[in-house]
Amino acid sequence: MCGIVGVTGAVGAAGVVYKRLKLLEYRGYDSAGIASMLDGRFYICKRRGRVYSIGGDIKRLHGDTAIGHTRWATHGAPSDANAHPHIAGRFALVHNGIIENYAALKEKYFSGVEFASQTDSEVVVRLLDLFYEGDALAAVAKTVSLLVGSYALVIMCADFDGLIVTKKANPAIIGYGDGASYCASDAPALAGLCSEITVLGDGDIAALTAGRVEFYDGNLHVICREKIANPAVSTELDLHGCPHYMLKEIREVPSSIIRTCDAYTCASDGLSDYLNGVERIIIVGCGTAYNSGLVGKRYFEAFAGIPTEVETAGEFRYKQPIINGRTAVIAISQSGETADTVEAAKLVKGLGGKVIAVTNSPYSELTRIADAVVPVEAGQEICVAATKSYTGQITALYMLSLTLAGMDTQTGAKKLYETAELAKGIIERTDIGAFADTCARSDGVYFLGRDLDYAVATEGSLKLKEISYVPSEGYPAGELKHGTLALIDIRTASVVIITDPALAPKSENAVEQILSRRGKVLVVTNVKDTLQRTEGKADVLEIPVCDKYLSPLLSAVVVQLLAYKTALLLGRDPDKPRNLAKSVTVE
Ligand code: F6R
Repeated sequence: MCGIVGVTGAVGAAGVVYKRLKLLEYRGYDSAGIASMLDGRFYICKRRGRVYSIGGDIKRLHGDTAIGHTRWATHGAPSDANAHPHIAGRFALVHNGIIENYAALKEKYFSGVEFASQTDSEVVVRLLDLFYEGDALAAVAKTVSLLVGSYALVIMCADFDGLIVTKKANPAIIGYGDGASYCASDAPALAGLCSEITVLGDGDIAALTAGRVEFYDGNLHVICREKIANPAVSTELDLHGCPHYMLKEIREVPSSIIRTCDAYTCASDGLSDYLNGVERIIIVGCGTAYNSGLVGKRYFEAFAGIPTEVETAGEFRYKQPIINGRTAVIAISQSGETADTVEAAKLVKGLGGKVIAVTNSPYSELTRIADAVVPVEAGQEICVAATKSYTGQITALYMLSLTLAGMDTQTGAKKLYETAELAKGIIERTDIGAFADTCARSDGVYFLGRDLDYAVATEGSLKLKEISYVPSEGYPAGELKHGTLALIDIRTASVVIITDPALAPKSENAVEQILSRRGKVLVVTNVKDTLQRTEGKADVLEIPVCDKYLSPLLSAVVVQLLAYKTALLLGRDPDKPRNLAKSVTVE
């Protein structure tokens, strides 16, 4: 969702920004740009494409102050002209977010003026220059007071020897280093460089000079902001010998389960207070987070007997939800930044409900809003497609449901440990690639299952389509005959997940129906009878027997690896799928 970074007081600032920008590419990779400043003069390079495409230009970007941007296009196509930074007069800036009233501002202040780009961001830099009367901070305060929408801005002014950073609804952090001051979209970009950071709040304005940072509110009154230890460590950014972050992160699924389980045990004190008297649960999230919510729903209903609904956060916001003091809303988000999920949480708070955040990002917007936080300890997830955070979310929801049900969480933790061990075995298997070849050649891939297996089917389908671009859907197995079967022919593949012996014969019916229409089938199962009945008819992948409710943690690894291998066969970059970005901070 655009990554921004800046430094002042560092020799070779553009080189520093370039290196850090690469760590933010998961936020968008449509274009990249850096501007530096020396003696009041700007030097700039920007281009459509990934960050490496500007690597050759760094040496001509002089000065010890620089800003950089990696873009996920919203307003204006990916192009050189629309790449950031944008410059107007004595100002240069990079922007993450959307200025919703940019057209009105353009009309009001720049009627008849030809803009250099089609971006909403350009109006901001032009306003800064328009309002500038010798005080850069005053120009920033006046400009942002007119903006509607979301933004994190890093600004250079030719007359100010440093950077100005401000934000609303999009993240920005400040970092402290050896005589230099830094800023970035998030903490991992400064891992290994800044051991201490400050997380900016909405409306804060930070003035960064070499080795000094001052904070102001929107009226330019000095305010205090605390420093915290940078939670991101640079070793998490190593690929550890893996060709892609996606594979590295799938390999980290077992540790994500174990660490999340351990973190829950430490953080669960007080959760019962928030959950006391809860009669209804609504889970909200987007994409993979929504899919993990489908698994969570089963836990809350099966263990705690509490009626639970799962809603995509974007829909929930606009349907006048009915919330009261006995409704708990569980907002799931890896990044804690997703605009729809954050806004859904705010809406609930406004209606007097309780919000419990399940998130991998302890200093995010979502944690600030929530009444209670259940941590996901997946570690930094860099691949755009979520993998280890999905299994971390399921782990957190499982533990939370046990607490709600008044069940023994230690027994639950033991089961999770055992399941994490079984997941390790699946990750090492090489036979998953065989069906990837079938998927890569298919016109469509359908993921089917019943109950918890259906929940994983939705995630398998999302994973496959987003990184391989093969059309895919996830269906309840029983729905097949109500329409989807019309799509099945020799050019389609289906993945049928069967982990519940009680439901196995029903799901096997779906296998038979597909086979009789000459569709290719992979059965992912740990049910012995299913193995016997389907072997020889369909491709079969046996996974270990485990606690019925934790089987999603194993079948998830299979569908993640299947998607990864399919993407590789089709020559896709699994870490950076087209058109997508991690952390969707716009609506
Ligand atoms: C898919 C994926 C997305 C995210 C979604 C929500 O692999 O990663 O569907 O799950 O954008 O993101 P978070 O969890 O950060 O709110």
